[in-house]
Amino acid sequence: MPSETQVVTMSRFLVDQERHFPEATGAFTNILHDIALAAKVISREVRKAGLMGILGDAGLENVHGEEVQKLDVFANDVLYRALDHTGHIACLASEESEDIIPIPDKFPAGDYVVLYDPLDGSSNIDVNVSIGTIFSIHRKVSHGERGTLEDCLQPGSRQLAAGYVLYGSSTMLVYTTGAGVHGFTLDPSLGEFLLSHPGMTMPEPPTKTYSINEAYYHRWAPGQQRLVRWLKGEGGFGSRYIGSLVADVHRTLLQGGLFMYPRDRNKPEGKLRLLYEMAPLAMIVTQAGGRASDGRHDLLDIEPRSLHQRTPAYLGSREFVDLAERYLEEDSEI
Ligand code: AHG
Ligand code: MN
Ligand code: MN
Repeated sequence: MPSETQVVTMSRFLVDQERHFPEATGAFTNILHDIALAAKVISREVRKAGLMGILGDAGLENVHGEEVQKLDVFANDVLYRALDHTGHIACLASEESEDIIPIPDKFPAGDYVVLYDPLDGSSNIDVNVSIGTIFSIHRKVSHGERGTLEDCLQPGSRQLAAGYVLYGSSTMLVYTTGAGVHGFTLDPSLGEFLLSHPGMTMPEPPTKTYSINEAYYHRWAPGQQRLVRWLKGEGGFGSRYIGSLVADVHRTLLQGGLFMYPRDRNKPEGKLRLLYEMAPLAMIVTQAGGRASDGRHDLLDIEPRSLHQRTPAYLGSREFVDLAERYLEEDSEI
């Protein structure tokens, strides 16, 4: 690994990493490179959103009936245009599109599918709180030339790579290809992501911080209520909740802790989406030595049924996720 004085760009790091995979064709490296380019473009717009008057609703709604902020639409377009023509992609899937996104016939198709949440935490755009992009990469498994829904409905354990971009006090890209977790910080003056966090691992002992929206306390199952009462009482935990998934998970990755978005009476499957939010983040945290669960099963083992399927989410330091599962054992299906 480079010493603290060496400057390593993400491009250089990807090439170095590729050497460990003799069978690597370079397609995979190119996809990560293309996502990094999209991240730079989105970061530039996020940084000037307040100035461009592009804040506020686009007057559109996405597939979940949520108001779509213009940056959501912009980020969605940027990712599509960064990936659609490269010849590496069989099809795409986005939080902002009801169905899978085919590669136009005029472009060659490839062997990989990318699923993404182009802009996570979009309700925070107008108040200048950190937002993010989340991505998940699978190998195509269907036999046709072009990708199908089957290629997208794969369990998180079969992801080839996963990552996120955090548009925070600085813009960071964090990814894993199954060989550890690596973080890069964007130097806007160079337009380069520079390796700033090689080999990220969750700290032991972990910081005792839990992260959950307690406004829903009265809708939770009894075991969930008991768990949070213990965490903030006898357990001696502190609390942090940004309400922007990528920011909450990034903090948990760096400091340890337990992020939760449980099911409740109004949201029997929880709020967060499996394929392009929780499965990629679960791969990242697991690769860093942590765990991710839906409260009963390892999130990476869930066989997806639909593209926008939601899941309860428990993610963070291994011992804290195990603890949460023990408290939830008492809860029947809501
Ligand atoms: P998105 O903006 O992509 O729809 O995701 C928003 C999510 C996630 O960022 C965050 O963890 C969660 O919404 C916060 O939900 P609550 O406001 O219900 O806490
Ligand atoms: Mn999201
Ligand atoms: Mn989103």
